[in-house]
Amino acid sequence: MTDVWILGGTGRSGRAIAAELRRRGIEPVLVGRDAERLQAAAGGLPTVVAGSVRETADAIRRERPAVVVNTVGPFIETAAPLLGACLPASHYLDLANDLAAVSAILGRDGELTAAGRTAVTGAGFGVTATESVVVQLCEGRPAPRRVRVDMVPSLAAEDGIVGDALAGSIVEGIPGVAGGGRFQGRRYRNGRLAPARLGGDPMQLVLPDGSTVTTASMPLGELMAAQRASGAADVLAASSEAPSSPIARAVLPVATALLAIGPVRSFARRRLAAVATKARPKPREHSWGHAVVEWPDGSIREGWLRVGEAQSWTATVPAEVVRRLLDGQGKPGAYTPAALFGPTLAEACGGEYQLR
Ligand SMILES: NC(=O)c1ccc[n+]([C@@H]2O[C@H](COP(=O)([O-])OP(=O)(O)OC[C@H]3O[C@@H](n4cnc5c(N)ncnc54)[C@H](OP(=O)(O)O)[C@@H]3O)[C@@H](O)[C@H]2O)c1
Repeated sequence: MTDVWILGGTGRSGRAIAAELRRRGIEPVLVGRDAERLQAAAGGLPTVVAGSVRETADAIRRERPAVVVNTVGPFIETAAPLLGACLPASHYLDLANDLAAVSAILGRDGELTAAGRTAVTGAGFGVTATESVVVQLCEGRPAPRRVRVDMVPSLAAEDGIVGDALAGSIVEGIPGVAGGGRFQGRRYRNGRLAPARLGGDPMQLVLPDGSTVTTASMPLGELMAAQRASGAADVLAASSEAPSSPIARAVLPVATALLAIGPVRSFARRRLAAVATKARPKPREHSWGHAVVEWPDGSIREGWLRVGEAQSWTATVPAEVVRRLLDGQGKPGAYTPAALFGPTLAEACGGEYQLR
């Protein structure tokens, strides 16, 4: 069986990944809840209608596709049942970028290895762009003492609404892992997850193109990927999308504490899902992954990965990973993208490194 299924086939990411796969000569199957919307998105591709995550899992067990690409967030809710349905027959890949979902998938390494199947999580811009720079900077060197990664996406938007998949990923995606409170930030200290301030450690970066941007602490999947790629005891992950103004930083702890109240969280998720998005062009030419790595002897290296618009790149990475899995280039187990395919994966997706 060589079928590639894209779950969430009507969505922004699902449609873009399908187009990238077709560019590579792979005709995927689009899976979704609504036959009409699915037909409109399919452009002649085969489709499977499954009304819920549970029905999708049943269909995967029945049809045993070669690779399943999951774009249905929040991944902390969908990844476990869908990965479960993939085993022992199918490889699994998702766009998770929250710490809880990424660590849950990576935690199933033993099960995947035993089944001889591969799971790749975090196959989107944030994890892949930052992790790739860390892998590149650390290759052939001892474990560094300290790592900071920054993701600077340049995102174009379509007319539409935020939608529940993205809203759920944002609202539910704040930690939910060991090392601190449920809706609190994280970093690594002494090799362990520890509390950190959301939007803390702001830093003004001068991008290689000369423009400036402020990044601040955001505990996403790239934190775990950077720690695993480097072995560093002290790791911080930051994003230009994190609120970094003094007022936002003052308000965030209160706002996130409120999310611990179930009805407040459901309300916030519903309201955010309904927010209208207006079409706008990408704010800058390139998106950037950035890392600064410091070793115990005091030596420091800095690197950048330059890619295009972040959402488009988020489609290129899964398509390239799927191509390699179908070619038999994967290894059994659970990985983030550059941990499986090394720093050249980002280059194969059009990224360019600038290392210092
Ligand atoms: N890691 C990264 O860099 C990165 C980048 C982009 C996106 N993402 C993540 O990827 C996810 C998708 O983003 P998107 O922008 O593509 O969202 P989107 O345009 O809203 O698409 C979501 C898709 O999921 C389907 N869906 C939603 N809830 C479902 C459910 N309960 N059961 C079955 N299908 C369901 C929707 O189907 P219907 O048509 O039936 O509603 C739609 O096809 C989000 O969680 C987002 O956070 C990650």
